[in-house]
Amino acid sequence: MKLWPFVRRGLISAARVVLIGVLSVPVHIVLIILTVLSFVFTVLGVGLVLAPLVQLLVRRYADLRRWMAREWGGVDIPRPYRPPPAGAWIGSPRRWLWLVRDPATWRDLLWLLGGAPIGFASGLATLVMFVYGALGVLLIPVVDNLASGGDSGYGVTWPLNPVSYLTVPFQGALVVAAVLYGAPWLLWGIAKYDHSLLGPTSSAVLAQRVDRLTETRTQVVDAQAAELRRIERDLHDGAQARIVALGMSLGMAEDLVVRDPAAAQQLIAEAREASGMALAELRQLVRGIHPPVLAERGLTGGLSALALTLPLPVAVEGELPGRPAAPVESALYFAVAEALANVVKHSGATEAWLSLSYLGGAIYCTVGDDGVGGAAPRTGSGLAGVERRLAAFDGALRVDSPPGGPTVLTMELPCVLSSPKTTPSSATG
Ligand SMILES: Nc1ncnc2c1ncn2[C@@H]1O[C@H](COP(=O)(O)OP(=O)(O)OP(=O)(O)O)[C@@H](O)[C@H]1O
Ligand SMILES: [Mg+2]
Repeated sequence: MKLWPFVRRGLISAARVVLIGVLSVPVHIVLIILTVLSFVFTVLGVGLVLAPLVQLLVRRYADLRRWMAREWGGVDIPRPYRPPPAGAWIGSPRRWLWLVRDPATWRDLLWLLGGAPIGFASGLATLVMFVYGALGVLLIPVVDNLASGGDSGYGVTWPLNPVSYLTVPFQGALVVAAVLYGAPWLLWGIAKYDHSLLGPTSSAVLAQRVDRLTETRTQVVDAQAAELRRIERDLHDGAQARIVALGMSLGMAEDLVVRDPAAAQQLIAEAREASGMALAELRQLVRGIHPPVLAERGLTGGLSALALTLPLPVAVEGELPGRPAAPVESALYFAVAEALANVVKHSGATEAWLSLSYLGGAIYCTVGDDGVGGAAPRTGSGLAGVERRLAAFDGALRVDSPPGGPTVLTMELPCVLSSPKTTPSSATG
C-alpha cells in the first residue's frame, strides 16, 4: 500500500466526516423544528403555505446529502419523491395533501431525526481521535519530558526522554492510522444510513418501474404499428407494383405470342426485368427487417461489416461471450446504424469507434466520434427512434455530447446470451 494516497484519502475523508458532523446538529434541528411547526400551523391555515416551503428546503438539503453520499461514500441514492400534481401551487390544499400523502416526506423527517446524532457522533469521534492521536505524535513527547525529565519541571532537557519517544508517539500514530483507515468507511456507513431513509422504498421502486414499463409498452406498440405501416407502404409501392406490371406484360405477351412473336418476346423480356426488380426490392425490404449479415456473422461481424461501409475509419472492438436473441441483435444493429449515420451526417469527425461488451446481464455498446458534438435526442427523429427501439427491450440510450465534442452514445440492452457458438470442428465431431 502506498503511504501518501492512503494518508490523503484518510485526511480528506476525515475532514468530510467532521463537516457532516458540523452540519448535522444545527441544520437537522432547525429543519426538524420547522417541519413540525409548519404542520402544526396547518390548523391556522398558514401551514398550507409554510409546509410546502419548508419541505422544499428539506428536499434541497436531502439532495445535498444525496450528492455527498454519491461523491464521497460511493452510494447512489435515487430521489423518491412523487411528482407534484399539475397546477397545484404552493398554498393550495392539493399541494399540501400531495406532501402529506407522500411517504418520502415522513421518511425525510425520520432521517433528519436519526441523522443528527449519527452525524454528530461520527464527526466528534473522528475529530477527537484525530486531535488526540496527532497531539500524541507531535506534542506529548515534549509534555511528557517536561513532566518527568526536566530537573525543575519547567525546562526541556535535551535529549528528550527516549522512552516517551517510543511509546506515546507510537500510540498516537496508531490512533491517527485508525482514523485515516476508518474515515472512508465511516463516510460509507453514513451514506448507507442516508440510503436507508432517503432512497425510495422497494414498493416505490416497483411503482416507478411499472410506470416506466407502461410508458415503454405504449411506445413499443406505436413503434411496431409504424414499422408495420412502413413495410406495408414499401410492399405496396415497390414489389407489389412491379408484380402487377409483370402480370400485365405477361398477359399482353400471351395475346401477342401467335400474332406477333417479336413484340411478345419484347414484352417477356420486360416482364423478366420487372421480376428481377421486384426480387431486388423484396430483398432490400427483408434486409431492413433482419439484415442477413447478422444471421450469418452475428452482432460483432455485422457491425464490423457496417463499419466498413462508412466513409471514415471506424475502429470496432469487443466481443460478446454468446449471441443475443435475433430481435435484440437487429435492434442494436439498427441503433448503431443510426448512430453511425449521424456521425457521417452531423459530426464532421475524422474517425469514429465502436465497442461492444457484456456486463452484469446487459450488452453495452458505445459509439464515439471526435467530431463537433452537440447531439441531442429531442431535435431529430433518429435518436428518439433509437431510444424507442431500445426501450422496447427495457434498454436505454445515453447521449454524452458536449458542444465541441467528442460525442459518445452508450446503448444499454439487458438480455441473456445463448451459449457461445461451438467451433465447427467440435460441432461436427
Ligand atoms: N455524432 C454527432 N455529432 C454531432 N451532432 C450530432 C451527432 N448525432 C446527432 N447530432 C445532432 O443531433 C441532432 C439529432 O439527431 P437525430 O439523429 O435525432 O436527427 P437527424 O439525424 O437530424 O434526423 P434523422 O435521423 O431523423 O434523419 C442532429 O440534428 C444533429 O444536430
Ligand atoms: Mg439521424
